[in-house]
Amino acid sequence: MRALEIASFPLLFFVWFLFASPEFALAADRKTYIVHMDKSMMPKAFATHGHWYSSVINSLRTSYGLPRSSVAPVSRPSLLYTYDNAIHGFSAVLSLQEVHNLKNMKGYVSSYPEKLGKFDTTHTTEFLSLNPNSGLWPASQFGKGVIVGMIDSGVWPESQSYNDNGMPEIPARWKGVCQTGPDFNSSLCNRKLIGAQFFSKGAKAASNSIDDYNSPRDEEGHGTHTSTTVAGNYVENVSFFGYASGTARGVAPRAMLAMYKVSGYSSDILAGMDQAIADGVDVISISMGIDGVPPYEDPVAIAAFAAMEKGVLVSASAGNEGPTFMTLHNGIPWMLTTGAGTIDRQFSAILTLGNGNYVYGWSLFPLDAWMVDLSIVYNETLSPCNSSELLSKAAGQLVVCQTDTGRSLASQIHTLSQTQVAGAIFLSNDTTYAEIGDLPIPGVVLNLADAPLLINYLKSAKDPSASIKFQQTLLGTNPAPAVAFYSSRGPSPTYPSILKPDVLAPGSKVLAAWKGNAATARYGNLYLSSEYNVVSGTSMACPHSSGVAALLKGAHPDWSPAAIRSAMMTTANHLDNTLSPIKDNGLYLEQASPLAMGAGHIDPNKALDPGLVYDVGAQDYVNHLCLMNYTSKQIAAITRSSNYSCTSPADLNYPSFMIFSDKANSSSTSIEFKRTVTNVGDGAATYKVKWTVSNGLSVKVTPDTLVFHDKNEKLSFTVSVETDKMKGQFSYGTLVWEDDGAKHSVRSPVLAYKIY
Ligand SMILES: *[C@@H]1O[C@H](CO)[C@@H](O)[C@H](O)[C@H]1NC(C)=O
Ligand SMILES: *[C@@H]1O[C@H](CO)[C@@H](O)[C@H](O)[C@H]1NC(C)=O
Ligand SMILES: *[C@@H]1O[C@H](CO)[C@@H](O)[C@H](O)[C@H]1NC(C)=O
Ligand SMILES: *[C@@H]1O[C@H](CO)[C@@H](O)[C@H](O)[C@H]1NC(C)=O
Ligand SMILES: *[C@@H]1O[C@H](CO)[C@@H](O)[C@H](O)[C@H]1NC(C)=O
Ligand SMILES: *[C@@H]1O[C@H](CO)[C@@H](O)[C@H](O)[C@H]1NC(C)=O
Ligand SMILES: *[C@@H]1O[C@H](CO)[C@@H](O)[C@H](O)[C@H]1NC(C)=O
Ligand SMILES: *[C@@H]1O[C@H](CO)[C@@H](O)[C@H](O)[C@H]1NC(C)=O
Repeated sequence: MRALEIASFPLLFFVWFLFASPEFALAADRKTYIVHMDKSMMPKAFATHGHWYSSVINSLRTSYGLPRSSVAPVSRPSLLYTYDNAIHGFSAVLSLQEVHNLKNMKGYVSSYPEKLGKFDTTHTTEFLSLNPNSGLWPASQFGKGVIVGMIDSGVWPESQSYNDNGMPEIPARWKGVCQTGPDFNSSLCNRKLIGAQFFSKGAKAASNSIDDYNSPRDEEGHGTHTSTTVAGNYVENVSFFGYASGTARGVAPRAMLAMYKVSGYSSDILAGMDQAIADGVDVISISMGIDGVPPYEDPVAIAAFAAMEKGVLVSASAGNEGPTFMTLHNGIPWMLTTGAGTIDRQFSAILTLGNGNYVYGWSLFPLDAWMVDLSIVYNETLSPCNSSELLSKAAGQLVVCQTDTGRSLASQIHTLSQTQVAGAIFLSNDTTYAEIGDLPIPGVVLNLADAPLLINYLKSAKDPSASIKFQQTLLGTNPAPAVAFYSSRGPSPTYPSILKPDVLAPGSKVLAAWKGNAATARYGNLYLSSEYNVVSGTSMACPHSSGVAALLKGAHPDWSPAAIRSAMMTTANHLDNTLSPIKDNGLYLEQASPLAMGAGHIDPNKALDPGLVYDVGAQDYVNHLCLMNYTSKQIAAITRSSNYSCTSPADLNYPSFMIFSDKANSSSTSIEFKRTVTNVGDGAATYKVKWTVSNGLSVKVTPDTLVFHDKNEKLSFTVSVETDKMKGQFSYGTLVWEDDGAKHSVRSPVLAYKIY
């Protein structure tokens, strides 16, 4: 059984600051940028770096000589500070155009807007392009009036993220309660946290009574994190050890939360979901799942069916068993299944060498520390960093650790944590450690591409030294998103005929509220606590989808759960921030397949207006269970009634196309899918089909044009896929319906998978 889905590692807790990223501000806006320059490129003509930087700024001024049609400059670029220690470069007040011009100048390295006073627990909402002025946020009134039921480990109600400032009255339709237990009573609920209950009978029956289960209070942190990711309210001036301050908020900051705390036991999960449906939630978010059970024995699947019947969308996590195929859970068709992706942010440190050269590396060392001018021990014998005895000779110094010595980064960090070395510079190309690992020692991990800078210096310097400044946050890093290596991959072992996961959402290094008084980071024996915590897992991805589903419910109250899911899938982005196909971090950054990312990364603003949806009703799911030869007894276990019949077994009207065969030599090489799309656009529209498939698949769609005359009109089509020329285990492609002017692109993944 899989319980709560945090991707676990030796030390699970990470803490970080996140900053808002107003990268794409209006051109007229002038703001402070931090600019990094390569000092070695300084032209000889300049006496000091200060002169050089001033001249750079001056040349930006002169570029105003060019005629510009639109806005005349109201002010000029100005230099604030020049830096020569923490970084090489300067800060200056610049317009977007000036930053753009700056990028072409000799010696330019990088720049980013100053992020003073803007602490952002969910940089992920910006990564998802949610914008207070346009798109899904205003269209849904930020989720106002929508109730999200969380099936999780409870809440830490004192977290500021549950404040109810600006929240409307609790609607009369709400039937839930706030249950009393140890350290919990009804006065802890409010207009944000409108319900909190616990379900522990199963746990108590199966084991000794555990006090923790007798209250909705979160003793883990997980439920506090996931629920505030879905719908945490705005919290101003949140900070971590005073390092940064700003505003925190969830994906649907005006939605209401109800916590159903469950143990990992099936009976309790079922009871919690059952109560959530009865209480009147609109969306259920469940960041847990049970591996390898058929749907008729899976409480999540069974309860999700009942929820779907009542119009409640159930959003669930795919699991953290990747990158192996067929490891996914919650892979049944009547739920939304989300895998985890990385985001465009890197936690870093700046390593500055004694000769003034500097480089950014990955780091998560949790103190606001700055190690200055430490001598570096570079010694082939020490470099595997595998012996605390040998390393003891490097006490008080920096050591260089190479991971191409057969010792993993994780084990080197562990060895170093038992020594007196002052810090470490790791040379490693491991992209997976940065997704979930922590760094309880002062260290920085350099990419191997940057290693020569260090090694050449070490070889040439007599007494090599370096400084490390921690707690640097880089935004806009790429490629992002990439599929997180740990995210479970399809096909669903228990329901392989439907492609899963459905979508990808931010899951790695997500910051949200945590339980109070908990260690969230450490340095040696020093344990540090913070009210907000950075964690990774499909558990963190799921609440992003749940939040978007809540926003869509707010914007389109009449949409069914299947319509909401369809909108999220067919508008999902299959490209990353370099405009290349999304990569798979579990596959050495090869292109990600739909088995890893489903239709792609959720794109909330596009999901608001998908053009067409693939709708599905309860009887349709039953027809598919019938087609899959489930017995009437098994089907009744799922539907919990005999109200459905098996008179017309049929394919499911799903927004993706899966050809699954466990008979490699099967004679059937042609599969036909029937689909019906509903026009949810503004009226008449004509859609034409396009598709691309790879590696031996061929596709035929009839008709290839769909002409809609009215809103809500339904039209059907047939897709035939030939797999006989397919080589290898799987092949995939896409099928897209596009209207005039490509206002809407309704995109579905097509995948064929064979077990030999
Ligand atoms: C509920 O708990 C809070 C905090 O523990 C306490 O201040 C309050 O008096 C309690 N209220 C009731 C009705 O027990
Ligand atoms: C923000 O927090 C800092 C310290 O954490 C405090 O000094 C400052 O007064 C706070 N500002 C506001 C507006 O609350
Ligand atoms: C490297 O360190 C080992 C162990 O301290 C020592 O025996 C050896 O002489 C050192 N090598 C160099 C080149 O300094
Ligand atoms: C450390 O690694 C080096 C190089 O792989 C190896 O020669 C040495 O035996 C290892 N030492 C220990 C203590 O594992
Ligand atoms: C390490 O990764 C970088 C890019 O991140 C790449 O340029 C370099 O070739 C890699 N080095 C090795 C040895 O794999
Ligand atoms: C269901 O049973 C029928 C009749 O035995 C068979 O032809 C078909 O392949 C089965 N379908 C699946 C999905 O196993
Ligand atoms: C089954 O159908 C009957 C008649 O339509 C209805 O009253 C009953 O509530 C349904 N049962 C379930 C479990 O949906
Ligand atoms: C499938 O076909 C391959 C070659 O075409 C053959 O080697 C293999 O034995 C066949 N497998 C089965 C289960 O028939």
